[in-house]
Amino acid sequence: MEVSQLRRLYLDFFIKKCKHTEIGSSPLLPENDPTCLFNTAGMQPLVPYLLGAAHPCGTRLVNSQKCLRTDDLDEVGDDTHHTFFEMLGNWSLGDYFKEEAIKWSYEFLVGKREDGCLELDPRRICVTVYEGDETVERDNKAIQLWQELGFILNSEAKPGDLNRIYPYPAEHNWWKLAETGPCGPDTEIFYYNGDLEDPKFKNNKYAPNDETDVYVEIWNNVFMMYNRESDGSLTELTNKNIDTGMGFERILSFVNGVNNAYQTPLFKPVLDRLRELSSKTEIENSIRIISDHLRASVFIMGDQFGVTPSNTDQGYVLRKLIRRAARHLHKIGVDYMEAVAIADIFIGMYSDHYTELVGKKDLILTELKQEIEQFSLTLDKGCKEFMKIKNELDQKAIQIIPGELAFKLYDTYGFPLEMTEELATENNLSVDSEGFEKAYKAHQDLSRTAAAGRFKGGLADDSEESTKLHTATHLLHQALRDVLGDHVGQKGSNITPERLRFDFNHSEAMTKEQIAQVEEIVNAQIERDLQISCDVMSVDEAKSQGAIGLFEDKYAEKINVYKIGNFSMEICGGPHVQSTKELGHFKIKKEQSCGKGVRRIKAILQ
Ligand code: SER
Repeated sequence: MEVSQLRRLYLDFFIKKCKHTEIGSSPLLPENDPTCLFNTAGMQPLVPYLLGAAHPCGTRLVNSQKCLRTDDLDEVGDDTHHTFFEMLGNWSLGDYFKEEAIKWSYEFLVGKREDGCLELDPRRICVTVYEGDETVERDNKAIQLWQELGFILNSEAKPGDLNRIYPYPAEHNWWKLAETGPCGPDTEIFYYNGDLEDPKFKNNKYAPNDETDVYVEIWNNVFMMYNRESDGSLTELTNKNIDTGMGFERILSFVNGVNNAYQTPLFKPVLDRLRELSSKTEIENSIRIISDHLRASVFIMGDQFGVTPSNTDQGYVLRKLIRRAARHLHKIGVDYMEAVAIADIFIGMYSDHYTELVGKKDLILTELKQEIEQFSLTLDKGCKEFMKIKNELDQKAIQIIPGELAFKLYDTYGFPLEMTEELATENNLSVDSEGFEKAYKAHQDLSRTAAAGRFKGGLADDSEESTKLHTATHLLHQALRDVLGDHVGQKGSNITPERLRFDFNHSEAMTKEQIAQVEEIVNAQIERDLQISCDVMSVDEAKSQGAIGLFEDKYAEKINVYKIGNFSMEICGGPHVQSTKELGHFKIKKEQSCGKGVRRIKAILQ
């Protein structure tokens, strides 16, 4: 089954049969969320709605969300971990609950192809549920629903019974995105990825979450009905929600009868090409890493809020991915520029669904080429330097590369620390990473470390200060258009409780007078005590009423449009304050360039 075909089957099942509305993927690089660099789960952009806000598309939503995780980069190359991945998700916002969620999931997995389902072998499926603790009891409802579908509680099963229900503790069956926020018990669906004739399988010697990993989790149904408060207590949410997440790459593998995505139409063309070009042996791990990292790079650069390689935040993650791919190309003896051809294959494969990639194709390929060209100038020399270091250490029988030397590889040859660590492992060495950080700090470029703390998933920040700054951003956006012209549009936005940062297209530096004028306009609107209101409308209506904002990433039928009095009208997910009077005094702290034709403003409220 092809990539697009599987995605469409899933979306159509929930749209046609279960009356969901398709909402399209949110950007991979979250807007206005200082707590994380990338979207890590399908529900992440939906947090405000899971907490009770009305979603403009209603109470049943479905999409395939672009996600990226960098916490297990070391695992990339195995059968199931990818840096970039798609998460298929269907949501009920206080609408249907456990019964429909469980029934529909199972039907989609094992139902007939001619009915738009996947027709997976039911013998291979088992499930887990929440076993309960002193605060939340065992999920007997989920158990009962699975029993009605023919599943057997593990404790009640006879030897040889398949399709078991395994109750597990919170560690496995309580889902949360972060320490606080929406959460709840879940039921996870697992797929047996081994030989049906294996006696251990027939005698129930394997179980989900055991060390063998022959049962792979494919789909999670979270019964998201609680909010974890900052004091650790649980409160019930206004709505009982369903939040599901199915790993696209995993399901694509199993539907195609193989046990990893590298053997499916998603990766196979790229891997076959690399196998043909390389004359080396033992290249499997490298070609998997190359294809995984280049696909992720395409999505980072091609995102609505895409970035190019740099030494900070998402740009640094991108740089690491590209350089690691380049190093592995070097290792298997394939020309670096092959990376560009591979990226082009991925763009082609995904353009029908992720249409943002089409317009950014040239940019993606050019940036990739430049980054690799630049890196290739030092990669060879850096590898030689590494071997020199290794030989010197060998002579002294030292097995740890000192931080200073790892820093030299970074600073002089552009080797990200992770790459040096990987090279070290390949050569039975390790790296003094603390020493590296020290050397790094000593050189006063803190950007990489700043990014390091933010790889994990987190909640959108909706503190009072951030909310105020968000409303101020709308005022700023309109004021910039009033002063500089209607060509001004948002290129990026990032808000922390301390400041707002707004990127917009404009080709020259703003003059002092222009900056003062913008501040004056914003402060005048604050003084006018304008009310903020939100209307739900179609994208066309929003456009014709003159709303501004990012239209490109809105595939949804209905969107939220926030109005600030009669001054500003902008597409946005909120949250906002009620009246501009709450904002205080607006001040621009900095105006600078941030790329060709793009300016950046940092501003605060005093
Ligand atoms: N939030 C859950 C997950 O990420 C289900 O979507 O697994």
